[in-house]
Amino acid sequence: MTRKGIILAGGTGSRLYPLTRSVSKQLMPVYDKPMVYYPLTTLMLAGIREILVVTTPHDAGAFRHLLGDGGQWGCRIDYAEQAAPNGIAEALLIARDFLDGAPSALILGDNLFYGQGLSGLLQKAAARDGGATIFGYQVGDPTAYGVIGFDAEGKPASIEEKPARPASRHAVTGLYLYDAIAPDIAASLAPSQRGELEITDVNRHYLERGTLEVERLGRGTTWLDLGTPTALFDAANFVRIVEERQGLKIACPEEIAWRQGFIGDADLEALAAPLEGSEYGAYLHDLLSGAVS
Ligand code: DAU
Repeated sequence: MTRKGIILAGGTGSRLYPLTRSVSKQLMPVYDKPMVYYPLTTLMLAGIREILVVTTPHDAGAFRHLLGDGGQWGCRIDYAEQAAPNGIAEALLIARDFLDGAPSALILGDNLFYGQGLSGLLQKAAARDGGATIFGYQVGDPTAYGVIGFDAEGKPASIEEKPARPASRHAVTGLYLYDAIAPDIAASLAPSQRGELEITDVNRHYLERGTLEVERLGRGTTWLDLGTPTALFDAANFVRIVEERQGLKIACPEEIAWRQGFIGDADLEALAAPLEGSEYGAYLHDLLSGAVS
């Protein structure tokens, strides 16, 4: 069965108050586009075209307004609501009917991935049958993350959520590829001490069954999570610097849909027309004319 995507874009965004009092964190600008475009395009680069966006009841309308039904990008986007932030693993329960037995790719709506060779790596991992794949990334301070410990052969040996004494510096990023049984695993979990269904507990299930793959993202890949004002500001600068230098956009869904063959030239032209007058619209025209390749 074809793998389906889930973007988890709920939560309170309280670390960004007052920015996020009336607007969802995942709709905040990251330089020239809304935050949710970054995880969305990561899924598209992995070849995933059927996507469920999980939002708070309050923000659902704004996400629909922004992303529509996904048809404009040759995708299908559905929506579901998470009543309260009961944990990342709850997304798998909310998505159960949408998944309908398909394997999944769950991505956090505040995670930005960027790097050469990333789409190939994601496509290879997404094509794998059975089990789970998570992506490890070395960080200076792993205590704010899920952390993977490795044995002497480099195989994953432990996984802990926000450990005070981390087993390694390898954080678990917010992108998780699961086989069809993930919703059942999530359903079997009890809430943690902080009252959440923990994604780390889902991953530990796979680890204990011997079916957890860890892909390590190397130093050529950028991974950022965007939960604080500083992180948001830094990410905006990162995107601006790379985009201005290269004249290429990061996480442009129109471009990625077109390059992936989800849409054709005429479709891209039609998407560019209403953006006429903006720098973003001009970029789409440059793609079509071949000025940008
Ligand atoms: O960013 C990667 C990290 O994400 C992982 O290393 C951790 O293992 C994982 O637990 C998670 O840690 P965070 O501390 O970043 O989780 P947080 O509670 O901030 O949630 C991450 C995003 O998911 C956030 O944008 C809000 C959204 N969310 C979170 C929860 C708990 C929801 O939409 N619903 C929820 O119930």
